[in-house]
Amino acid sequence: MTIGFFDSGIGGLTVLAEALRRLPTENYIYMADTLHVPYGPKPIVDVKGYIFDAIEQLMQEDIDALVVACNTATSIAVAELRNKYAIPIIGIEPAVKPAVEMNRETGRRVLVFATQLTLQQPKYYALVSRVDEEGIVDSLPLPELVTYCEELQFDKDIIGAYFREKLAPFNLDDYGIVVLGCTHYPFYADLLREILPSHIGIVDGSSGTIKRLSAMLYRYGMTKLEQGSGQVKFMCTSHEPHYIEKMRIALDYVMNKDYTI
Ligand code: DGL
Repeated sequence: MTIGFFDSGIGGLTVLAEALRRLPTENYIYMADTLHVPYGPKPIVDVKGYIFDAIEQLMQEDIDALVVACNTATSIAVAELRNKYAIPIIGIEPAVKPAVEMNRETGRRVLVFATQLTLQQPKYYALVSRVDEEGIVDSLPLPELVTYCEELQFDKDIIGAYFREKLAPFNLDDYGIVVLGCTHYPFYADLLREILPSHIGIVDGSSGTIKRLSAMLYRYGMTKLEQGSGQVKFMCTSHEPHYIEKMRIALDYVMNKDYTI
């Protein structure tokens, strides 16, 4: 079986890594929209067009299922993608629900990091209003983190200073959980772990997304189809060979990390 993965850039590799751990015998095609990353600060109409163009290219590869491994693309396009294509499509959304549930007993607040576009969408408002009865969820966009990640900037001093500046207005004693609601952010989970006080947990949506993928494959009887060998093919909208190499390096980096907390 061939499962397509889509993100604006290398962020979705944090979700692909989880798929490779849990479903190592499928084949994967990973598409990054290198022509247009980052999506977060751009107008929604433009981003929607980019998503549909890139996914159309990915569909030409005859994939059996699609994971939209991008919270931003999921929040603005997953419903229309499901109308357009007949294959099973799984999206990812900020793990607000498990965070609120896990946090209930502590009486502390939840801080969601995500792109500006994700945080502005009705889908996000609907999600928060559904699960946040006590009004304990706050959100913070971290646009520069996507750019750092795309540059493979993992320098602890630079990224550490960035996090400290962004977190300065927050009283961290009030918070019990941080949600990484953009697939680029888990690249920095271990650094965040060092920066945040130890009482704050960190969650992201990749494990929930791959659990849903796995359940869906069973439901559709797709696991009975011919299995692959965990092979990963990379594609990008700008057809840059060096970007393909960058994706390989970034996937190695996340595969060798245990960033799920
Ligand atoms: N990785 C993406 C997400 O999960 C998008 C980041 C961006 O392109 O701004 O939201």
